[in-house]
Amino acid sequence: MAERTPIVLSNWKMNKTVNQSLDYLANLMRATDPKSSRMEIILCVPFSVIKIMADKINGPSLISISGQDVHWEQWGAYTGEISSPMLADVGAKFCMIGHSERRKYFGETDEIVNQKALALLKSGVGPIVCIGETLEERQLGLTTNILEKQLRVSFNRFSASDMEKTVILYEPRWAIGTGKFADSDQIAQAHHYIRSKLEKLFSAQSAVRTRIIYGGSVTPDNIAAIWKIEDVDGVGVGGASLDLSNFLQIVNAVSGAA
Ligand code: PGA
Repeated sequence: MAERTPIVLSNWKMNKTVNQSLDYLANLMRATDPKSSRMEIILCVPFSVIKIMADKINGPSLISISGQDVHWEQWGAYTGEISSPMLADVGAKFCMIGHSERRKYFGETDEIVNQKALALLKSGVGPIVCIGETLEERQLGLTTNILEKQLRVSFNRFSASDMEKTVILYEPRWAIGTGKFADSDQIAQAHHYIRSKLEKLFSAQSAVRTRIIYGGSVTPDNIAAIWKIEDVDGVGVGGASLDLSNFLQIVNAVSGAA
């Protein structure tokens, strides 16, 4: 895992005003030093603050600003939507797609995720593709079937180099915002399965290079156990990242500074 740069991702969801966002970023920049650790801190923030935040990062930094969703078309009559060239234009480095809340409330399917991923790649924005099973699917023993379909469909028409620009965020849907995080064996099995599937779909090199991170009720209390798991290249944090001191404990655990 040594060659894969670890990621700590913060998903703000629908939270924070401009002032709150700038304040958070300024304090996070003060607390992190690009010279002393090798990691990426990806802040997935509302569209309303991407540009104002991205503009503040003008020197070397561990931090980058990213989106939480995108439309699959480049331009056109899609009222209320934002496209991948627009995200690139405001300085987004990555964009999440297929988050379980998008799937649940907005009907996002694996086919839509695939279209969005291809659009992002075309604009030079890295896709962060969220996958994961529901509780019912896990209880029925269908976890790997679900992951297999999500990977196969989401990465349809991807080249091996597209895959390596992409981050996979494995988030069991039952663990998001619930306080119930997957245990170490469940996480290890899912990440191992995803990496072996990447090898089949693409190549051994893609499987080794693609970063697979875990999300779902990650907190300062469970980060040490999660970060020890083989094949986990980092974490995606929702609720616990809204408070900067909590988020910094997670960042420090991953960077080894904790
Ligand atoms: P959570 O959210 O950390 O609040 O469970 C994770 C996510 O939605 O990415």
